[in-house]
Amino acid sequence: MKILGIAGSTRKEKQSGVYTLVQTVLENTGCEYELISLKGKKISGCIACLGCVKDNICKVEDDLTELRVKVVEADAYVIGAPNYYSTLNAITHAFLERWFQFRHQEGDTLWGKLGVAVGVGGTSGQFPADEIEKFFAYNFIETVAKVTGQGAASCFSCGYGETCKVGVPHMLYGEGVKITEEMIPNVNEQPEVMKAAVDSGKLLGQRLGKEHDRIQVTQKMQQKFMEMLEGSA
Ligand SMILES: Cc1cc2nc3c(=O)[nH]c(=O)nc-3n(C[C@H](O)[C@H](O)[C@H](O)COP(=O)(O)O)c2cc1C
Repeated sequence: MKILGIAGSTRKEKQSGVYTLVQTVLENTGCEYELISLKGKKISGCIACLGCVKDNICKVEDDLTELRVKVVEADAYVIGAPNYYSTLNAITHAFLERWFQFRHQEGDTLWGKLGVAVGVGGTSGQFPADEIEKFFAYNFIETVAKVTGQGAASCFSCGYGETCKVGVPHMLYGEGVKITEEMIPNVNEQPEVMKAAVDSGKLLGQRLGKEHDRIQVTQKMQQKFMEMLEGSA
C-alpha cells in the first residue's frame, strides 16, 4: 500500500505547519509513502479544454504532468493546505481542480481510495481541510480523518507586525502588541494537534492494512456524495 502526501504550502518546509502535519500523518501510517511539496511547482488550474474526456489524461503540460502517475498509483492521499482567505491556497486548489481529468467515461481511477485532509491557518485550518474533504468526495475518496492546526501567519515576521493594523498580531493581541517568539503559533507546540496527526496516520494505516475494499468504499462515498449535493441544493 502506497500513500501520496502533498504539502500545499509554498513556504520552506521548516516554516510550514502544513508540511509538518502532513509529514507526521505519513510517518505514523506504517505504510510506504512519498511526500511532495508544491513549493516552487508551476501548476495551473483546469482550463476546461476537455482534452481529457476521451482518455482521462490532462493535456496541459506543467508540473502536474509528472505528478499524475503518482496520483494514479497511490492507494491513499494525505493532502494539506494553508488557509488563504478562508479557503485553499491557489496551488493546492489548482492541483485538486486538475483531478477533473479522472472524472470522465466512468473513470474509476480514484474511486474508493482513502484520504486524510490537513489544514493550517493563521487562526484556523478548518476551511482548507473541509475543502480538501469536498474534493475527495467528488472523487469518491473517503476522508478517514481531518487534522487542523494554527500556523505562523507571515505578519509575525514581515517586519511590520507590531504596527500594522490589519495584521494577525494586532488581530490576536490588540494595539501595541510586542511580538515575542513564544506567541508565534507553531503546530509542533500544539500537543492536541500533533496527537491528531499521529492518530490520523495510525488510523489510515489500519484502514489500508485491513482488507481495503475499494468497491465498498466507493458505494458508501457515492451515497454520501448524493446526500452532500442534496444538502446544498
Ligand atoms: C495570502 C494569504 C492569505 C491568508 N489568509 C488567511 C485566512 O484567511 N485565515 C487564516 O487563518 N490564515 C490566513 N493566512 C495565514 C496562513 O494560513 C498561515 O500563515 C499558515 O501557517 C500557512 O501555512 P504554512 O505554515 O504551512 O505555510 C493567509 C496567508 C497568506 C499568505
